[in-house]
Amino acid sequence: MSKTLIKNGTIVTTSNEFVGDILIDGEKIAAVGQNLDVAADEVIDASGEYVLPGGIDQHVHFSFTFKGTCTRGFETSNAAVAGGTTTVIEFVNQVKDKGLIESIENYRKEKADGIAMADYAFHIVMTDPRPEVIDEIPSLVEAGYPTMKLFMAYKGQFFHADDEAILKALMKAKDCGITVMVHAENADAVDILEKRNIALGHTEPFGHVLSRPPMVEAEATARAIHLAKIAEAPIYIVHVTCKEALEEVARAREAGQRVCGETCTHYLTLDASNLAKPDFEGAKYVCSPALRTAEHREALWKGLNLGTINAVSSDHCGFDWAHDKHVGIDDFRNIPNGAPGLQNRLAVLWTYGVEAGRITRQKLVDLFAASPARNAGLDHRKGFLSAGYDADIVLYDPRGKSVITNADMLHGVDYCSYEGMEQIGHVDKVFLRGQLAVKDGKYIGEKGQGEFIPRKPFGTMYR
Ligand code: URP
Ligand code: ZN
Ligand code: ZN
Repeated sequence: MSKTLIKNGTIVTTSNEFVGDILIDGEKIAAVGQNLDVAADEVIDASGEYVLPGGIDQHVHFSFTFKGTCTRGFETSNAAVAGGTTTVIEFVNQVKDKGLIESIENYRKEKADGIAMADYAFHIVMTDPRPEVIDEIPSLVEAGYPTMKLFMAYKGQFFHADDEAILKALMKAKDCGITVMVHAENADAVDILEKRNIALGHTEPFGHVLSRPPMVEAEATARAIHLAKIAEAPIYIVHVTCKEALEEVARAREAGQRVCGETCTHYLTLDASNLAKPDFEGAKYVCSPALRTAEHREALWKGLNLGTINAVSSDHCGFDWAHDKHVGIDDFRNIPNGAPGLQNRLAVLWTYGVEAGRITRQKLVDLFAASPARNAGLDHRKGFLSAGYDADIVLYDPRGKSVITNADMLHGVDYCSYEGMEQIGHVDKVFLRGQLAVKDGKYIGEKGQGEFIPRKPFGTMYR
């Protein structure tokens, strides 16, 4: 097996950083230290660069369907690797009349195996909570899929879940170490506000913002937390976006409840004014929950530092603007929800987090890799630069500034959510299980290079 020695980079962990070396042996990290005196087939000089663990994006949608449209698939997962993310966790909807595991495994065979370019895993979205489906929940553990998601939002869509389904899932899941994740928005409130805004003539993308105020998210977050308390189960709130929802998570944690939350890169850096852009450009930013104001953004950065939120995902959802988003040209309710972002997560966190003095490099490593690894039950082989771990390694070069542009994106979508924003530094090299997949900022990996990674139950996310 071939050995590669990465020398003289600044190795960043969740607790410290030091100039040192990493020896890769085959697919694994063999040693991490200073002045490693070992023979290697290849030596890479990482002087002046930061050496980070490959990222884990625990929230991506390579096959999200919305009103007849569908996002770009695993064929575009090289975008993750190009941006420093070596493992992605995809949400798979349970297919009607099919079981949970059957739904994932059919999806996996058809859409991911042999195609994925990043390592991959799956969360099931329970859409059909028949008694036999609830009884199937414990088997997710053995199959390596120990997380499940329920959508409190999206009234009228087949994947919407009511409180009964959530409570039943929580009660079943907690006994076998399965984490229930929820998209927390009050679907009825959104529905009423949407109808009101349409009646007032707000058919344009900004109607989406007007119909999804922060309290819609806060109410559902509080309700999900209370359901978890009734079930005595842990719960994970995906994409927390506003002060009010953050306060619900913080209050529950303060009271000792096992509640965690993630936020996403776009909620930390973009705001609702984007949806007011003319000529339907605002549709590019239609995602749920809606983008907020600067005040909420700052609260989220604070929430990251306080540990109320423990991961930053991309919620990558690649719909084309010219085709897919235009389905809603006359009525914002038909604009597919979601925005692309998996290639930008590290550079945006670096630029607007680390370089802006909002988070430390240690915190970045935690939010980008270590904590999502723990959340998802991957921390036995991913998320850390330690001997024995998968050699998923990013060399980030902090020198130089550039402007983010869709021309550099591999996501197969006709726009980039961060177009025109400044970026400091760039992903220079990425190793995926020891194989160099990005060289001098360019993706050089191949289709099917990603491997399915079974996960273990209950990450240690509640510390
Ligand atoms: O708008 C979003 N976030 N689309 C993706 C699906 C979801 O709600 O997570
Ligand atoms: Zn969601
Ligand atoms: Zn999502």
